[in-house]
Amino acid sequence: MKNHKFIVIEGIDGSGKTTICNYIIKLLKNFNITNIILTHEPGGTPVAEKLRNIIKFTKKENFSYKTELLLIYASRLQLLNNIIRPNINTHWIISDRYDISSYAYQIGGRGINKKYITFLQNFIKNNIKPDIIIYLDIDPIIALQRIKFKKKDRIENESINFFSRVRNYYLKIAKKNKIIKIINANNSLENVKFLVKKKIIKLIKFTEI
Ligand code: TYD
Repeated sequence: MKNHKFIVIEGIDGSGKTTICNYIIKLLKNFNITNIILTHEPGGTPVAEKLRNIIKFTKKENFSYKTELLLIYASRLQLLNNIIRPNINTHWIISDRYDISSYAYQIGGRGINKKYITFLQNFIKNNIKPDIIIYLDIDPIIALQRIKFKKKDRIENESINFFSRVRNYYLKIAKKNKIIKIINANNSLENVKFLVKKKIIKLIKFTEI
């Protein structure tokens, strides 16, 4: 049995992914696991971080959904080739978002036809699948309330309707995919951590460390 896993955290903006990623690192370290790589999407390599910046902070130019999709896939390819593929057999990889985000945001949120995502997934040869995807499910009204004092980026400025569509798409995929674990993230952070801990400990125990 391999002694490391690929863990992905998903959820709409304001669901608490970043806090939960850091919490997972802490849990793994408590089990003396040190070969850990924490990354995120879009981003995670120098080029991908530049793309992240463009995706999140472009203001004074019309930004097509198709441009957004292509930049996200360019960023994903950089991360896949430079970080994920070289380390997947030796490290625990924790990623704040991965390809399910594109299904939820670009198909669910933007209304892009799924066939283009399927094409891009094949085009970048995205054949590395996570061992577990923790999806933090939250009501968009609560999520947007949480980030209301934050300086919002281009996507965070979208409407409640947009985030409801993204959430519904996440739920739709989660129902069909056993590796996606839905965690109720509407409650306190302590409660979310408790639920995540149960999943991660189970994952560690099924792994020789
Ligand atoms: P995120 O990592 O959630 O931001 P923060 O670190 O500020 O919480 O920001 C990434 C944004 O990119 C988020 O709004 C969702 C969007 N996104 C997509 O639309 N599609 C994708 O495939 C990915 C990976 C991200």
